Amino acid sequence: MQENSWVPLFPEQASTFAWQVDVLYFYMLAVSTVVGIGIVVAIIFFFVKYREKEKYATGAEIHGSIGLETTWSIIPFIFAMTVFVGGAYVFYNQTRPPADTTEIYVVGKQWMWKFQHGSGQREINELHVPVGRNIKLTMTTEDVLHDVYIPAFRTKMDVIPGRYTTLWFNAIKPGKYHLYCAEYCGLNHSGMGGWIYVMEQRDFDNWLSGNVSGQTPVQAGQDLFQTKLGCASCHEGGASQRGAKLEGIYGTDIKLTNGQTVRADDEYIRNSILNPSGQIVEGYQPIMPTFKGQVTEEQLVSLIAYIKSLSGNANQMNTGGSTTSTSGSTTTNNANTTGTIPRRADRGDSNSQGSNPNAPPNQSEPTNRQER
Ligand code: CUA
Repeated sequence: MQENSWVPLFPEQASTFAWQVDVLYFYMLAVSTVVGIGIVVAIIFFFVKYREKEKYATGAEIHGSIGLETTWSIIPFIFAMTVFVGGAYVFYNQTRPPADTTEIYVVGKQWMWKFQHGSGQREINELHVPVGRNIKLTMTTEDVLHDVYIPAFRTKMDVIPGRYTTLWFNAIKPGKYHLYCAEYCGLNHSGMGGWIYVMEQRDFDNWLSGNVSGQTPVQAGQDLFQTKLGCASCHEGGASQRGAKLEGIYGTDIKLTNGQTVRADDEYIRNSILNPSGQIVEGYQPIMPTFKGQVTEEQLVSLIAYIKSLSGNANQMNTGGSTTSTSGSTTTNNANTTGTIPRRADRGDSNSQGSNPNAPPNQSEPTNRQER
């Protein structure tokens, strides 16, 4: 089932799990059609057979039929369970990214999609990915709900303010595929879309090396951490360190002063930056000021990428191309960034206002719940 051109208006199957979604879809369509036609035929049949033949006739007494009742219970049960098991299987495949994914950061805003590759390249409303690799999108939004939808990959996921959601796919054939926003998000919602370009690995490597922009997310995060936001003055420096230790924490369980234990994931780091008093790490004082309103969504993902890299997870940021950096060597891309190639997608800069004429200059963060 690689080609679906025989079905009118149907997008082609371009990801590893696309055929599974289609099998399930057509199975449900077939079951619905058979059952629907069966019901209509039965109605017409009974309508004719049991029409009124004489006035005030008394119907025959019926005492039920175990065989009949069992049959009409078991057959629908089997159909319902196959749909359930098939649906659970497809859902599991769609929502559980494999371990070896290439991470790409996505920030939605009214009305555009901003992408950033682990090697620093930024794109707007276009995303270039290599064929046959597991790509994971880590997504958030600067303003309202959006939803990434790639019909040819048979996958979509809400993009939610104040949260990180993920979507993964493995594209099986090179090509150009529609990208849509699938959540009504304002006036230009219908125009909020673009294209996914799936390329052979070699073409993708060429594309990457020809489109180097500023810093990688890890470098940008390091810059913010050490210079621009001054996080390092408390979170770095051995004995004089007043802020919680960040090296090696990503993915571990953190004990808080209120007795709770939380997993140090993207969400936790984000909350710790925007609402630090909500999660005081055991052994530290609640002295950290909030950075709410001072960091953009793109800066937040960069900070997360940097803190992640402190735990040796930098290979998560690797874009997989042979020209890009691999685990730990977060500075190897520097050589490329100083060239004369004009920066692509400058609108992706975190301090640009984008295309929304109505957006307030500073989008306020959604309020996190206050725990103390
Ligand atoms: Cu963004 Cu609809």
